[in-house]
Amino acid sequence: MEFNAAKIKNMFNLEGKVALITGGAGALGESIAAGLAVYGADVVVTGRTLSTLEKAVQGVAQLGRKALAVTCDVSKEDDVIKMVEKVKEAFGKIDILVTVAGIAKRSPAEDFPIDDWQQVMDINVRGTFLSCKHVGKVMKEQGYGKIITISSVRGFAGHPGGYAAYGPSKAAIDGLTKQLAAEWAKYNINVNAIAPTIFWTPLTQQVLEDEKLKQIFMSRIPLGRAAVTEDMVGASVYLASAAADFITGQILYVDGGCTAG
Ligand SMILES: NC(=O)c1ccc[n+]([C@@H]2O[C@H](COP(=O)([O-])OP(=O)(O)OC[C@H]3O[C@@H](n4cnc5c(N)ncnc54)[C@H](O)[C@@H]3O)[C@@H](O)[C@H]2O)c1
Repeated sequence: MEFNAAKIKNMFNLEGKVALITGGAGALGESIAAGLAVYGADVVVTGRTLSTLEKAVQGVAQLGRKALAVTCDVSKEDDVIKMVEKVKEAFGKIDILVTVAGIAKRSPAEDFPIDDWQQVMDINVRGTFLSCKHVGKVMKEQGYGKIITISSVRGFAGHPGGYAAYGPSKAAIDGLTKQLAAEWAKYNINVNAIAPTIFWTPLTQQVLEDEKLKQIFMSRIPLGRAAVTEDMVGASVYLASAAADFITGQILYVDGGCTAG
């Protein structure tokens, strides 16, 4: 068998690719936007408020790549349709989708306000599905696409910290990821999830401030630390690139060994 060193060296190159990142104003979204740009991708970041996307856009532009901010509430189908139209107008295609938009609400299950529970489902599950649905149509036409959903270790296992909405929402994302991988393989669309353990962002501020809860989290991570930006970027670049062409329907745990035991 021929070993093509030049091709292999180039496997992570994303030059000429267009990436769309939902929840692009968040901690993880910003990092992934910059990470994909470092490897050559032009990046569209989306979120509910245009002004909050400024930093992510600047981060990508400073790396010499094209950047665009588009408003979109991922739980609203009309918004998602318009977002996809704008990206197509600006770039003509979407090669990579990363569905980062998500929220976490914690409460003891027995007292969980149903409206809060529903909001988590609407943004995390419905929002991820709508983004995949409409970007998937574009990718189907192109005959190419890499979709990366953002799950969590909470989709794999329960936790004493009140995750009766967030945990099931991430388990649903895992299921959706596998379903879309099976359904869209024929269109040459890879669909994988990244499932991180905790990293310190506004989403996990409450945990960081609660010493007892923080200890519970830390005691469950064999590598003994929270995830950091680089951990998430490495996984995203990999799944977005040709290096992962034969990987689909997988949940990549970026979790310091958390789910290993
Ligand atoms: N921080 C962690 O420890 C951790 C661990 C596992 C998984 N995750 C997941 O990573 C993703 C990003 O988390 P983060 O820590 O960067 O949080 P973050 O709060 O910094 O970012 C989330 C982003 O999603 C956006 N968003 C929320 N609702 C939206 C909507 N309806 N439409 C569009 N955008 C919306 C927010 O405005 C924010 O910019 C989430 O899906 C989260 O569940 C985070």
